[in-house]
Amino acid sequence: MLTIRSLGHACYTVTDGQTTLILDPFLTGNPDAVCGPGDVQVDFVLPSHGHSDHLGDAIEIANRTGATIIAPYELAVYCARQGAKIHPLHIGGGANFPFGRVKLTPAWHGGGIVTDEATEYAGPPCGFVVTMGGRNVYYAGDTGLFGDMKLIPQRTPLEVAILPIGDTFTMDMVDAATAAEFLQAKAVIPTHWHAFDPIRCDPKQYAALIEPKGIKCVILQPGEEAEF
Ligand code: NI
Ligand code: MN
Repeated sequence: MLTIRSLGHACYTVTDGQTTLILDPFLTGNPDAVCGPGDVQVDFVLPSHGHSDHLGDAIEIANRTGATIIAPYELAVYCARQGAKIHPLHIGGGANFPFGRVKLTPAWHGGGIVTDEATEYAGPPCGFVVTMGGRNVYYAGDTGLFGDMKLIPQRTPLEVAILPIGDTFTMDMVDAATAAEFLQAKAVIPTHWHAFDPIRCDPKQYAALIEPKGIKCVILQPGEEAEF
């Protein structure tokens, strides 16, 4: 069994009660964050790409807790240069860990670390297929819809998929409903739908698109959790 908790925007913890992962730990500066980076106790940190609302506090959390950062190679090396312990992977590759497995999927998006001065190349963005507690979870990261999502459940039948629905920078709800069908997940947690004006939408409208297709929509407000 697995517990997935929303910490706000696209940040989630995933735990089997023994090991805890944090996905896209954007807490500092996140208007929807339910805690700060100093409140997080985790074993692994999984940033999907270099954008500030995803890489977020990953390095600070890893350095404080001793957690290992699992990320695409270029982004992982960037984190290592700042002192973090890393386990680099790349698209299509994965690794086994004591808790299960992490595999990187493609994501159609940007991956650079953007500051006021420059944009640093930090590798391509990714999604994650996490196997833990006997469950497979797909965290899409920031991405547009792509047909190869159909391949994911052929190898790893999904208990739940965490899919962006907010449009502008990622899939909108209609594309995310198609994604949910491609992925054949039993349940979908919609994400990336509230923290900033351009992406704000009502996830209940997304539920209305996928629930008639027999896919459960689990809407997590920041601070809420669900078991799978
Ligand atoms: Ni992004
Ligand atoms: Mn984003």
